[in-house]
Amino acid sequence: SGRCVVAVDGPSGSGKSTVSRRLAAALYAQYLDTGAMYRAVTWAALASGTDPQDAEAVAKVAGEIEVEVGTDPDAPYTRVDGTPVDRAIRGPEVTAAVSAVAAVPWVRQLLVAQQRKIIAAAGRIVVEGRDIGSVVAPDADLKVYLTASADARARRRSAENAADLSFTAADLDRRDRLDSTRAADPLQQAPDAVVLDTTELGIDEVVTRLRGMLDRSF
Ligand code: C5P
Repeated sequence: SGRCVVAVDGPSGSGKSTVSRRLAAALYAQYLDTGAMYRAVTWAALASGTDPQDAEAVAKVAGEIEVEVGTDPDAPYTRVDGTPVDRAIRGPEVTAAVSAVAAVPWVRQLLVAQQRKIIAAAGRIVVEGRDIGSVVAPDADLKVYLTASADARARRRSAENAADLSFTAADLDRRDRLDSTRAADPLQQAPDAVVLDTTELGIDEVVTRLRGMLDRSF
């Protein structure tokens, strides 16, 4: 029933992905992981031997490939020119280079245009990223900004990746800084976003609160 777009933004480790998928499933809506799209372009750049710091070369790669994302919250996938890249895009090489790639304005233009098409076609969708409420879907029905203490975010991420805690904390800090200070569409809280600090909240609690907000607004 009816169009419903939910924008979920926030830094990594804030619980965005799990919350967005669970919320989408509960709403019988689709799910779009925009971070996976930036990761896919980064994977393609690295696979072709392109220096991720070379903005012009990265923009060229982005224009030559086809990124496909599956929007079923129970079975999301990412492909580059038909090749599944789901595992590779979560690896340390892509994670280390993705913020540089996501800072290239032409890459953002291409991916934001593609994201808007996916959202329009879906009608009912939960979209997660950094600039969804501010740039991609400023007319979203609900905008959420998830945060958590730096400590909690690093703990969650290192548990997911079985990685060293201090390394993970340093890497998150570096990416947050790059994502928040870049010139093109930085990570930002839309003025009309609902801010939820998930440091002390379980996933279920966050999803329940968001469903309550949606129920009240329709
Ligand atoms: O959410 P995830 O950690 O997969 O995002 C990977 C990177 O992609 C972020 O660190 C950020 O640089 C970039 N990104 C972005 N805009 C989005 C989603 C992700 O710039 N909407």
